[in-house]
Amino acid sequence: MISIRNVSKWYGDFRVLDGCSTAVGKGEVVVVCGPSGSGKSTLIKCVNGLEPFQQGDIRVDGTSLADPKTDLPRLRARVGMVFQHFELFPHLSVIDNLCLAQIKVLGRSREAARDKGMALLARVGLAEQAQKHPGQLSGGQQQRVAIARALAMDPVVMLFDEPTSALDPEMVSEVLEVMVQLAQEGMTMMCVTHEMGFARRVADRVIFMDRGAILEDVPADQFFAAPRAERTREFLSKILDH
Ligand SMILES: Nc1ncnc2c1ncn2[C@@H]1O[C@H](COP(=O)(O)OP(=O)(O)O)[C@@H](O)[C@H]1O
Ligand SMILES: [Mg+2]
Repeated sequence: MISIRNVSKWYGDFRVLDGCSTAVGKGEVVVVCGPSGSGKSTLIKCVNGLEPFQQGDIRVDGTSLADPKTDLPRLRARVGMVFQHFELFPHLSVIDNLCLAQIKVLGRSREAARDKGMALLARVGLAEQAQKHPGQLSGGQQQRVAIARALAMDPVVMLFDEPTSALDPEMVSEVLEVMVQLAQEGMTMMCVTHEMGFARRVADRVIFMDRGAILEDVPADQFFAAPRAERTREFLSKILDH
């Protein structure tokens, strides 16, 4: 579903991605971890065309991101993205947040968008909050709204960039539960996260990045049992020890 082949990206002289290659099959869940500044967000943003790259190619369901003829808005409509800071529209109600792109981008009727939106809110346990504004919800609830909003577009893949790292600790699990459920339903997912409990439960593979490069890309059980690179072992010992 996602193929990343030898992708490099520079900011001026600084090489932020260094020959990254990996693939995510249909229904696979891949967790991406690594130290701050290692290029995780950049890589994931390249996958839905939010960041350009200078070398290599990325394909999503066969569509090339490197091809200048690719209709990026159309591609993005099929790739769900969930960010650390939710990125909901603060001036719109929760249900209107879910309807907007369905109507504007997919051309759905207001009624169809609303039905879909309400069904998804029920699925993330927030049907009662539909008329509220994002500011009236907790961080965990806002992130669940953001996930529902992405799902409303019927994405072929879902990308997550540290979806729980801005949350108070007691709200992390309600968001992870929604993600676990999605994974178990067969959604193709690429998740930047340091929630290793989540990785152990649902990840098929774990990718470890450092200084723009993919240092490990291995089955999850193997990653936890015997990480190969010294750099990975060091990183894991830091995040697992507390
Ligand atoms: N717009 C930018 N211009 C220059 N450097 C950037 C820009 N965005 C990110 N970087 C740098 O690229 C590196 C990787 O960033 P990022 O992908 O956000 O890492 P991560 O998500 O792993 O923390 C960091 O060193 C960061 O400072
Ligand atoms: Mg990041």
